[in-house]
Amino acid sequence: MASHRLVDSYGRVADDLRISVTDRCNFRCIYCMPAEGLKWLAREDILRYEEIVRLARIFVERYGVRTIRITGGEPLVRVKLEELIGMINAIDPTLDITMTTNGVLLRQKALALRDAGLKRINISLDTLHMDTFKDMARSDAFDRVMDGITAAREAGLWPIKLNMVVMKGHNDGEVVDFARLAHSEGYEVRFIEFMPLDGDNIWTNEQVVPSRRIQEQIEDQFPLEPVVDTRPGPATRYRFADGAVGGVGFISSVSQAFCTTCNRVRLTAEGGLRTCLFSLHETPLRDLMRSGVSDDHLGSVIEAAIWRKEEGHLINKPGFIKPAKSMSQIGG
Ligand code: 5AD
Ligand code: SF4
Repeated sequence: MASHRLVDSYGRVADDLRISVTDRCNFRCIYCMPAEGLKWLAREDILRYEEIVRLARIFVERYGVRTIRITGGEPLVRVKLEELIGMINAIDPTLDITMTTNGVLLRQKALALRDAGLKRINISLDTLHMDTFKDMARSDAFDRVMDGITAAREAGLWPIKLNMVVMKGHNDGEVVDFARLAHSEGYEVRFIEFMPLDGDNIWTNEQVVPSRRIQEQIEDQFPLEPVVDTRPGPATRYRFADGAVGGVGFISSVSQAFCTTCNRVRLTAEGGLRTCLFSLHETPLRDLMRSGVSDDHLGSVIEAAIWRKEEGHLINKPGFIKPAKSMSQIGG
């Protein structure tokens, strides 16, 4: 039983933990990593599975966290990731364990992940065209990603969410095609506004396509009805008015920040606790853990860090400072 919840000084409760298991990736998406990659963390600086599980247990058993999302870099480049999923699942088999992946290794991994206790999956897919895929992911693996999505579906990881980061001039002409895919195949497509978390510092507000515009384009062809969520999340979700199975959602981090209802907390691959994607400061837990402190001690450090969670990010406002880390080093 949770002894108490993780509350910040604005009254928000953190109950959604995102764990990055590696900073490495086999793609180089233009909105995330430079073409040449980044300087990877050394193996000994990355949390071992036992260390991740210890922290996950504290979040679940002491603080009532119910959702754990595994992220990267690309989580599936970490060896035997299914073992970590199994270890987290053993903390509490009713946990909502999910993962965000680029999909390229799913043909090999989907069944093992499902068997280990993975409940849901988000797959990043920004385009339905091989040439645009080469442009955006800087990879030739388009066919493998599409096959990976099929493999996840065959393994029963369903419903599948597809994450599309919309960038003006790259893939913004495909938003209606993605809505059509959701409508015909039953996927939940998440349209994500491009955020200033890219490794190349190419972000400008002009490249952001506001969710409102995307929604207008979609509704011209596929009328939508809002889904009323019991608790508001970052995505505003819609179902198809004609009753088709899939749906769409909009993550409007730039045009309509959802900071006031943010329930997320992040753990980086090197064991840094981050209370916001745009945090300029993180609370390092790895060395503390390795120095032999008790769970009570770790808990008090975690509680204090959450209490100090920032009110919100300042994108497009004076005073915004881009964090030094890119998305791949934070975990989505
Ligand atoms: N802006 C918005 N979304 C991003 N992602 C990675 N970088 C960015 C960015 N700069 C997304 C990926 C993935 C999730 C983890 O985060 O597409 O779906
Ligand atoms: Fe890799 Fe995901 Fe970053 Fe693309 S967005 S480079 S798939 S970590």
